[in-house]
Amino acid sequence: MKETILVTGGAGYIGSHACLALAEAGYEAVIIDNFANSDRSSLDALQLITGAAPIFLEGDIRDAAFLDSVFARFRISTVMHFAGLKAVGESVAIPLEYYEVNVGGTLEVLKAMQRAGVRSIIFSSSATVYGDCKVQPVTEASPRSATNPYGQTKLVVEYMLEDLCGSDPEFGVASLRYFNPVGAHKSGVIGENPRGVPANLMPFVAQVATGQRPYLNVFGSDYETVDGTGVRDFIHVVDLVEGHVAALKYLKSHKGFTPINLGVGRGVSVLEMVAAFEAVSGRKVEYRLCDRRPGDVAASYADPANANALLGWRAVRSVEEMCADTWRWQQHHAARNAAAQA
Ligand code: NAD
Ligand code: WQD
Repeated sequence: MKETILVTGGAGYIGSHACLALAEAGYEAVIIDNFANSDRSSLDALQLITGAAPIFLEGDIRDAAFLDSVFARFRISTVMHFAGLKAVGESVAIPLEYYEVNVGGTLEVLKAMQRAGVRSIIFSSSATVYGDCKVQPVTEASPRSATNPYGQTKLVVEYMLEDLCGSDPEFGVASLRYFNPVGAHKSGVIGENPRGVPANLMPFVAQVATGQRPYLNVFGSDYETVDGTGVRDFIHVVDLVEGHVAALKYLKSHKGFTPINLGVGRGVSVLEMVAAFEAVSGRKVEYRLCDRRPGDVAASYADPANANALLGWRAVRSVEEMCADTWRWQQHHAARNAAAQA
């Protein structure tokens, strides 16, 4: 019998890639999602890649009765909790929705786990919990703070998980602090599919390369970095989800709250990323240097030593692979959209 993992938000960008990693590692994934920021196409794509229809139940993590029915129907060993809202700008405009889904929804998931006797969870935390940390790279012991409501929700959930572990010695939490996930599965049929104007760098760059947008606004060229533009720890999404499978194994023998950075450990600037994308795509990515984006930090990158030591995991995919896989997905996606509109 395969071990069964509940994947909340499994129709989304990272969750869908996690389902593939789980299938490859011999686990059964049960996906729940309310399609707030996704649709069935990722589920169809999972079937295309694996040859089997994913187990999927449409529902909301804020719905306790729904969650109870899922735990009653499947023998879940661990929850991978991806479901949530993630747009920083939107979180400033509608903070209560962010608290309701990210904090309230997580609370419901944890209470349902308690009712079902499930005591193991992998939480999608974020480098955003390090706020504007001046000392880089950040370790898990770096001070935590938040610069926006989205970041606050991740912090609150981390505190909630720590308190839960304090109350129950059998509870195990891996709080995986993602840096900047980019790229897509090699098949090119699943990837990041933002609605409207992309807020993040890579989807925007990809849309400039396909001609959907005329140019990239480069937010800030006067930072104290290698070329004046922002520096981030971009990590291939497939490396990221492999880190989750490693965390599953870790939780078998480790209880308590363990925060772990998932990053490459190397900073890459915005203009370095643009150049890498141009090289792999053969397309020109026009850009304009503009003012800094409010709330941005100059540089953010991980010290991934804990992930190496505790999980036996390290990111192995290159910036070129991140760009090539984003480009393959973008072309597939643009072709699919064009066909749908024809
Ligand atoms: P995503 O939006 O693609 O996926 C999230 C999924 O959760 C979506 O399919 C959405 O429909 C679903 N969802 C939202 N609200 C729900 C609800 N109330 N009930 C059930 N399902 C719901 O986002 P992603 O990039 O895959 O991010 C996954 C997780 O990782 C999020 O928690 C996010 O905050 C975190 N994270 C993401 C990044 C990043 O850059 N992508 C970085 C750090 C952390
Ligand atoms: C990267 C760099 C921008 C867009 C965000 C969240 C963080 C996490 C990951 C969830 C910065 C520059 C961007 C553009 C640009 N998400 N940029 N032009 O801000 O590091 O992190 O996503 O947890 O919480 O804050 O990622 O991709 O938005 O920006 O010049 O059109 O690209 O200024 O230097 P960020 P990003």
